[in-house]
Formats: sequence, C-alpha cells, structure tokens
Amino acid sequence: MTEQSTKVHVKPADGRLGVLLPGLGAVSTTFIAGIENFKKGLGQPIGSLAEMGTIRLGKRTDNRVPKIREFVPLAPLNPIVFGAWDIHEENAWQAAKRASVLRDEHLDPIRHELEQVRPMKAVFDKEWVRRLDGPNVKTAESKYALAQMLMDDIQRFREDNRCDRLVSVWCGSTEVHTDITDVHLDPDRFEAGLKSNHPAISPSMIYAYAHIMAGVPYANGAPNLALDTPALAQLATDKRVPIAGKDFKTGQTLMKTILAPGLRARLIGVNGWYSTNILGNRDGEVLDDPGSFKSKEVSKLGVLETILQPELQPELYGKIHHKVRIDYYPPRGDNKEGWDNIDIFGWLGYPMQIKINFLCRDSILAAPVVHDLAMFLDLANRAGFFGIQEWLSFYFKSPQTKPGLYPEHDLFVQKTKFKNTLRYIMGEELITHLGLDYYYADQK
Ligand SMILES: NC(=O)c1ccc[n+]([C@@H]2O[C@H](COP(=O)([O-])OP(=O)(O)OC[C@H]3O[C@@H](n4cnc5c(N)ncnc54)[C@H](O)[C@@H]3O)[C@@H](O)[C@H]2O)c1
Repeated sequence: MTEQSTKVHVKPADGRLGVLLPGLGAVSTTFIAGIENFKKGLGQPIGSLAEMGTIRLGKRTDNRVPKIREFVPLAPLNPIVFGAWDIHEENAWQAAKRASVLRDEHLDPIRHELEQVRPMKAVFDKEWVRRLDGPNVKTAESKYALAQMLMDDIQRFREDNRCDRLVSVWCGSTEVHTDITDVHLDPDRFEAGLKSNHPAISPSMIYAYAHIMAGVPYANGAPNLALDTPALAQLATDKRVPIAGKDFKTGQTLMKTILAPGLRARLIGVNGWYSTNILGNRDGEVLDDPGSFKSKEVSKLGVLETILQPELQPELYGKIHHKVRIDYYPPRGDNKEGWDNIDIFGWLGYPMQIKINFLCRDSILAAPVVHDLAMFLDLANRAGFFGIQEWLSFYFKSPQTKPGLYPEHDLFVQKTKFKNTLRYIMGEELITHLGLDYYYADQK
C-alpha cells in the first residue's frame, strides 16, 4: 500500500544561490520584484509551492503536514542574487516599469535592488524572433564562440557575486518553430554545428548548451525547441546537470489541464474545444509572428490529446476539434483575456457546453513558476539528480520526458509525482492514496 524510500543524500543549501535569467522582460522582472519584496517582508509569494506549499507525510491519522520548505532543504530567499541577459539595455527596474505588470507600490520599495540587475549582452538572431531587435547583443565569428562568451559571463557572474551555486530559467522570447534535424541528434554533431554556424541552431539552444557545459541546472520556460533536442538532453546526462522544460504552464493551458482530467475521469465526451486569447504585451507581439506562434500552438495543442486519450476511448474523444488562437491586442498589456468554448456530451449523447472567460495576469501566474523551478532544480542538483527532471512536469505545458515515454499532462497526476519525489528524496513513505489499511488493518 505504501512504499518506503531510502533517503537520498542532499547537500545542504548553504551559501549564496545565483538565479540566472536569459530574457529580462515581463515574467523575469515580475519574478525578481516579487522575491525582493518578500525579502523585505512585503507581499506574499502566492502560487509558489516552495514558499507556501504543504506536504502530507505518513498516514492521514498521523497529522504530519509540514510546509514543503520545512521538509526539504531549499535555498533561503536571502541571499539569492539575480543575473540576466537581454537584447535591450534596460535594467530590471526600467524593464519592470515598461512591462507595467506591477504597481509602483511593489516597485518603489525595491527600486535600488532592481537597478542592480543590468542585463549582460545577449546571444540573439533576428531570424529566430522576427518581431524584436535590440542593441545589447554579442558578436563573434561562430556560434561556438558565442557559447564560450556565455560561459565566461556565467563564470564572471559566479565570481563577482560570490555564488556557491547557480540555476537558470529561460525567460526569453519564443523563437520560431523548428523541427529536430541531424545537427540536434547528439552532442558531437551539435558541437560541430556550433563551430560551423549551422543555421538550425538557435540562440536559445546556445544558452542551453553553455549552461549545461558550465554545470548550471537549466529550465526552458518558452515553447521553442532547445533543451528537448536529443543532443542537449544527452549532454545534460553526460555532464550530470538537471534540466526541465518546456513552456511555463499558466493561464489558459493551466485551466485546460485542471478541467480536462475531470471530464476524462467522469467519461464526459468532448467533441470541440475552442480557445482564443487576446494579449497585448511584448510576448503577444512576438507571438503575432506566425513562426513564433507555431511554437506556441504545438505546445498548447499537445495537452488535450494526452489527457483525453482518444485512442483508448474513440467514441468519447475521437472526433475532437481543438483550436487555439492568440491575437495581439495592445490595449490589454499583460492582462490577457482567454475564452474557451467546450462542446461536451453525456448520457445517450446529449450535448452540453462549458464557457470559460479567464481574465488573467500572465506574469503574475508565471512568476511563482519561475521561482519554484529555480528552487527545485537547485534541490535536484544537490540531491545528485541529473538529466530530464520529469517530476517538474507540474510546471510545464509540454513536459519533457525520456524518449519513449509520453508526457503526463494531468495536473493532479503531475502534483502526485512531484510530491512523491520530495517524499522519496527525504526517505518518507510514498503515498498511493489506496487507504485500505485504515479499514482492514485490525482484521489481520
Ligand atoms: N507569462 C506567461 O504566462 C508565460 C507562459 C508560458 C510561457 N511564457 C514564455 O516566457 C517567455 C517570457 O515571457 P514574457 O512575457 O516575459 O516576454 P517579454 O517579451 O516581456 O520578455 C522576453 C524578453 O526576452 C528578451 N529576449 C528575446 N530574445 C533573447 C535572447 N536571445 N537573449 C536574451 N534575451 C532575449 C526580450 O528582449 C524580452 O525582454 C516567453 O517566451 C513566453 O512565451 C510566458
């Protein structure tokens, strides 16, 4: 009924953690500003399991439900330091003001701290993000040389900020969609491709390569191909670096992965799911380009198929029409509005509809995801975990898995996997929720 795990040796979270962020835009500045507020005792880290989550241990009758932070050794918020790269020269305060996610009451008290986060020069190529351009960009003869420059940045940041450990979360723009080609198949071919400036190697792949080579745990918050190439996944295993991806699960897809498992669980049929959004921030502008939108679309569309399993239940889910649209609409800024129309059917095939109108704040939902990924990747690293961290699927729209495994999209299965991994790390019983022992234990 329960499984006892052996405690994993976890190195202590002593010293200073540096969190690196390729991309200093709406999400990353909202994340940094939140942490700087919390350090001063202002505001609450709502949405973060690392800061507010609890975990049940043992039997329900044991009444042991500590905070996750008290159960597993996570890095303390103080002293976390932040570093970033961006194609724009604005510091984090200027970038946060421009992104207009947070009000002055959350920016003014930490202005000085935000002004210290000045972006390092980016590795950027307009071919991969067609709607953007900026002056703060590295130049070099080859992609390999650019990767070396990023590794130098990482080393300099580590020394200048006296960091004992680093983690990194890609918060840069969504690059255009690309398929896996030969150059992505193994580390040797990838490295040769970096040296020969292979056109199928994108800037975000160069960041991922540089971080893995520098031994820095790395997560991909955007939907474009990067860590999920066989070459970089293999490199992470070879270098014993934990990685996780991809595409933060927030907003409409979060709602989808909350609702769809419920419909599936009760065998309610679905024959249509139409999702549309309006979004007016820079991310919306980038996604207005068909190439970048394609990356997002692929990431969003995969979710329903895996949850509903039409191959197992074709009479309920075999004819589903799933459509996702994003329209760039500047007046809304970061305050996205999403509409879902879901056509469902029940007993004897009678049709019904569900309508969702989600007035969400994209970066407010994404910031705790960035924080948790930083915290749990650092934990994974100290626990000696490396390669793909599937237990962090909970945070992603397109969870990265080992080849041959289908990704688990159901938020509640993901949550169980996540919490059982924490129990496993700490040598606690894994919880199966079977619960028969409460009823029959006395009769043995
Ligand atoms: N906000 C959410 O809920 C959410 C959810 C899922 C995924 N995402 C993804 O997270 C990423 C960040 O979103 P955002 O709203 O902060 O976008 P944003 O446009 O505000 O910020 C992205 C930043 O990345 C910079 N950038 C682009 N290419 C770069 C490069 N090669 N190197 C360094 N910097 C680069 C841009 O200049 C910009 O400042 C996007 O890819 C977005 O699709 C966001």
